[in-house]
Order: sequence, then C-alpha cells, then structure tokens
Amino acid sequence: MNQYVTGAVIRELREKSKMTQQQLADLLGVSDKTVSKWETGKGYPDITLLEPIADAFRISVTELISGNTIHNENVSANMLRSKFYVCPVCGNAIHSMGEAVIQCHGVTLLPAEAEATDENHVTMIERIEDEYFVRIDHEMTKEHYISFIAAVSADGIQMVKLYPEGNAEARFKIRGVRKIFVFCNRDGLFTIDVVKGVDDRDRSHDDTEERRELEETAKKLFG
Ligand SMILES: [Fe+2]
Repeated sequence: MNQYVTGAVIRELREKSKMTQQQLADLLGVSDKTVSKWETGKGYPDITLLEPIADAFRISVTELISGNTIHNENVSANMLRSKFYVCPVCGNAIHSMGEAVIQCHGVTLLPAEAEATDENHVTMIERIEDEYFVRIDHEMTKEHYISFIAAVSADGIQMVKLYPEGNAEARFKIRGVRKIFVFCNRDGLFTIDVVKGVDDRDRSHDDTEERRELEETAKKLFG
C-alpha cells in the first residue's frame, strides 16, 4: 500500500458520519485543532491513531488508507449481486461477491455497471440437455470482441474467457443459473435474466411432452 490516510478522506468520512471536528477529537483523545490540521493537509495522524480513526467511522483500516469505503455487509448473501472488475489495459477480469478495491496495471478498477443487453449485443440462450448454450451476435475482431461470458446463480458463478477470432459463445451447466453477464471490450458489461433470454417455446414444449409421456406411462402401469 503506497498511500497514507489523507485529510480529504478524514473530512469526508467525518461529514458522512455527521460528526464535528470536536466530536471526532474527543473520541480520539486529541484536540479539535489537531483534527483540523489533518483535514487541511497540515499534518498526518500518528500511525497509532489509524485504528481508533477507523473505529470512529466504523470502517476497516484498509478502507481508511485506500480512501475507499466499501459497503458490502451482505457479501455472502447473494451471488446475483456479483461485481465484475475489468482492467482497461490488459483486459484482466475479476469477479467479486461484493464491492472491493482492486488495482491492475496501476489502475484502481471500478465495478462494471451492467446494462440490459442491447440491439448490438443480442444474447441468445438455448437450453440443450443440461446446459445453457449462450451465443452473442457480435464481431470478434482484435479491436472489438466479447471478452467473457459469465453465468451466475444464487450460490455460484461460471465464467468463460473468450478471445478475438473465436466464437462469441459458451456453454454453462444449468444448475440454478439466473443471470448471464456478457462483457464487450468496447461497450462494457451487459446482463440478461435467463428466463427472458431462453428459448421458452422449445423448453415448455419439451417439458409438456415429457410430462404427457410420463402421465401416460403412469396410467398404463397403475390404471
Ligand atoms: Fe460491442
């Protein structure tokens, strides 16, 4: 870590916590002048104060030093709230169960905002036996391509990396998959709910046929 807590961060956190300089000073056992000095960049808090300062704002020391407050109290609650971080320099894609501070190639990555798939990134989901076959109608040139597809369920993720000159497609085990995420190197992250994207006609047709067959067999067997 190459940063130390800055005055701007302390001020921002203090104001967010609706504390006065005096109130923060009292909590830390310093004077309000000292707090004011930190906030105006005329001094740094001693390292022994980092933990008390973090405690005062109810954040971790790491968050305090990075200047990024992470609100992910429900990290384990739902994978469907997954975040994807993609490095604009190397294309490295990182999946996170909640918000995180991630750096790659010296860039602090922002979580990609997922938009609904648009007309340039039409995503087709077909159910083939126990798999979803996902295909995007999109060019796959070095300049403009789909770099990964991910299938997310409430408790898991399957991620497939794609490459230029390859096909914009991937297969995923069905296993409760609810959302598909598609990342285009130029246009960013898109998402579609599986129920919306899947070829419903075929699926319900198959299910009905199967059920009918089973019912008929049962009738024959058990009257
Ligand atoms: Fe695109």
